[in-house]
Amino acid sequence: MENTKAATVVDALLTRRSVRAFLPTPVPRAEVERLLALASRSASNSNAQPWHVHVLTDEPKQRLTEALWRALDGEGRVAETEYPFQPAPDDWEEPFRGRRKVFGERLYGETLGIEAHDAHGRLAHHRRNYDFFGAPVGLVLTVSRSTLASALVDAGLFLQALMLVARHAGLDTCPQAAFIDFYPVLRRHLNIPDDQIVVCGLALGHADPGHRLSDFRTGREPVDTFTTFYGD
Ligand SMILES: Cc1cc2nc3c(=O)[nH]c(=O)nc-3n(C[C@H](O)[C@H](O)[C@H](O)COP(=O)(O)O)c2cc1C
Repeated sequence: MENTKAATVVDALLTRRSVRAFLPTPVPRAEVERLLALASRSASNSNAQPWHVHVLTDEPKQRLTEALWRALDGEGRVAETEYPFQPAPDDWEEPFRGRRKVFGERLYGETLGIEAHDAHGRLAHHRRNYDFFGAPVGLVLTVSRSTLASALVDAGLFLQALMLVARHAGLDTCPQAAFIDFYPVLRRHLNIPDDQIVVCGLALGHADPGHRLSDFRTGREPVDTFTTFYGD
């Protein structure tokens, strides 16, 4: 599938997807700055703008990837107590469990051809999270801990805006909670102060149109499954 440029916000919404295979084509720093400036127009509670973005390219990105791979291969996941709250449930309830299962089966099974019992194959794909799936730009988004609940909402708005303006520029992204698994490695590596917490990573670059993941799309539930209307 060819890389296309989104002309409108609806195009940007409809063509945005989590891309997990990028070309090495660089994205100029001025372009990243332009996208971040646009994303910072997002709403935030009392205009607090609690976000901070660490932008990694070239050597610094490579060094972070190697540190994370060492942690993944050696220590495994870090103790959850080191992260200030549980980022995702251990045991997902329905209907979320079922949706995750469908997503996992379609991504790993149908698209990547990795069998459910193939832990090695799954790990090999998961590992690619930590080189931002080959994207030339890796971002790590943090927010101020002092305003956490509202800051997480604000961070979500910022992230979505960034993904949409990236699409408008013909670029693609993948938000990545996988980075939270190695929170202390990130904190050490990026000198993240105690009053900041990591929300997620974000891969940014040009999608690889020749990769077998390029046609992977996820579905959505219909509006009536998540909406209650009051009045006519
Ligand atoms: C906060 C957040 C964290 C995510 N973490 C990861 C991740 O670590 N690795 C990954 O491959 N995808 C990750 N995703 C992408 C989701 O799997 C994806 O958004 C979802 O399946 C819907 O697909 P779409 O983004 O292609 O529409 C994350 C998405 C969000 C919003």
